[in-house]
Amino acid sequence: MKITLSVIKADVGSIGGHTKPSERMLQAARDEIAGATDAGLLIDGFVSHTGDDIALVMSHTRGEGETEIHQFAWNTFLKATDIARAYGLYGAGQDLLVDAPSGNVRGAGPAVAEIEFEHSLEKPRPAESFMVLAADKCGPGAYNLPLFLGFADPMYCAGLMLPQMIKGFRFRVIDMDNPKGDSTVELDAPEEAYHIAALLRDNERFGIDAIFSRTHEAKAAAVSAQRLHSIAGTYTGKDDPVAIVRNQGIFPAPEELISPFAKAHYVGGDARGSHNMPLMPVPINTPVTGLYCLPLVSCLGFSLAKDGHFSESHVDFFDNPAWDEVRLQAQRKAIEMRSQGWSGPAMLPYSELEYGGFRDTVGGLLARFELKGSG
Ligand code: 13P
Ligand code: MG
Ligand code: MG
Repeated sequence: MKITLSVIKADVGSIGGHTKPSERMLQAARDEIAGATDAGLLIDGFVSHTGDDIALVMSHTRGEGETEIHQFAWNTFLKATDIARAYGLYGAGQDLLVDAPSGNVRGAGPAVAEIEFEHSLEKPRPAESFMVLAADKCGPGAYNLPLFLGFADPMYCAGLMLPQMIKGFRFRVIDMDNPKGDSTVELDAPEEAYHIAALLRDNERFGIDAIFSRTHEAKAAAVSAQRLHSIAGTYTGKDDPVAIVRNQGIFPAPEELISPFAKAHYVGGDARGSHNMPLMPVPINTPVTGLYCLPLVSCLGFSLAKDGHFSESHVDFFDNPAWDEVRLQAQRKAIEMRSQGWSGPAMLPYSELEYGGFRDTVGGLLARFELKGSG
C-alpha cells in the first residue's frame, strides 16, 4: 500500500517570549491527533516541540499535499492558538499567515515536508525507518550543507560507495526568491555535485526541496524550503524548516546523515532572524533559553509497521552525551561570533535582514545622505 508521511510544524505561541509552547497547547495537539487517528484520517501521529514550534508527525494513505490532512493540521494549530491567546502567550498564532487556506497549507505559514512511497516491507525496503529534523530560530536553507554531505560526500557517507547507492542521488533545489511560485531544478550527484554546491552555498535563496535515489527512483528526503518573508511580505518569524529523511539500506544510515551536524555550522537566524549563528543539535522538546537565541535542530527517529503505525516508541538522536561536545562547540562558536556584536558577518547582510525595522532604520538614514560639495 502507499503510505504518506507528513510533518507540519508551526509556531502558534510560546511562554515567556519565543521559548516553547505550553503543555496545554501540546496536549490539545495530542488530543486532536488521537481524534483524527480514531476517525481514520490518520494511521498514526506524534507531537513534539523544538523551541517555540509544534511539530505534527503523521502517517496516512491520502498522498502529499492532501486538503483534509492539511486542514486538520491547520485546525489543530488554531486550537493551540486559542489556548495561547487565552493565557496571554507570546506570538499567539504567529505562523498562521492567512485567514483560512483553501487547501494545502504550504505557503500559508506552517512548514511542510511530505513523502509518499510504496510500503510493502519487501525489497528494496524490508524495513522502513525515517528521521524527522525540526529546526527553530533559523533560515530555510539550514539543512543545505548537512544533507548535501550526507547524500553526496563519501567523507560523511561511506555508504555511497556501496552498489545500492553508488549511482548517487538526485537533488531537487528550489529557488525560494521566485515570486511567481515554486521554481525548482533537478541536479544529479555525483556528476553535478559542484553545481549543486554552487546553489546550496546560498542558504537564504536556494534550498533542497527533495532528494531521490537514482538507483531506485525513490524519494529519500523532503524539506520545507520556503521563506515566510516572501509569503507575508514582512518579517513575521523565522522559517524554521522541517525535513523527513528515510534512512538505512538504499539510503544513508542515521550516523552518515547526522554526523555533518557535528559542525554546528553557521546559519542565518538567531535573534530577530537577523544574525549568523551556529546550528546546535538538541533533544526534542528543548526550549530556546540558552545563549543569545541559538538556532536549534532536533532529530527524531521512527520505524513504520506494516500497517503504517509508528514503532511503539521513537528515538531522539541528539539526546546522547556524544552530542554534548558538539553543543559546547556550538556555544564556543556562538561566543566568538557574538564578541563582534553587530559587525560584518555577525549579522545578515542588508538584503537578507529579516527584521524590517533594521532596514527602516538604515532607510531613514539613507535619506539624510548628501553628495559631498552639494550643500
Ligand atoms: P521564531 O520564528 O522562532 O518565532 O523566531 C523569530 C525571531 O525573530 C527570534 O528572535
Ligand atoms: Mg516564535
Ligand atoms: Mg520558531
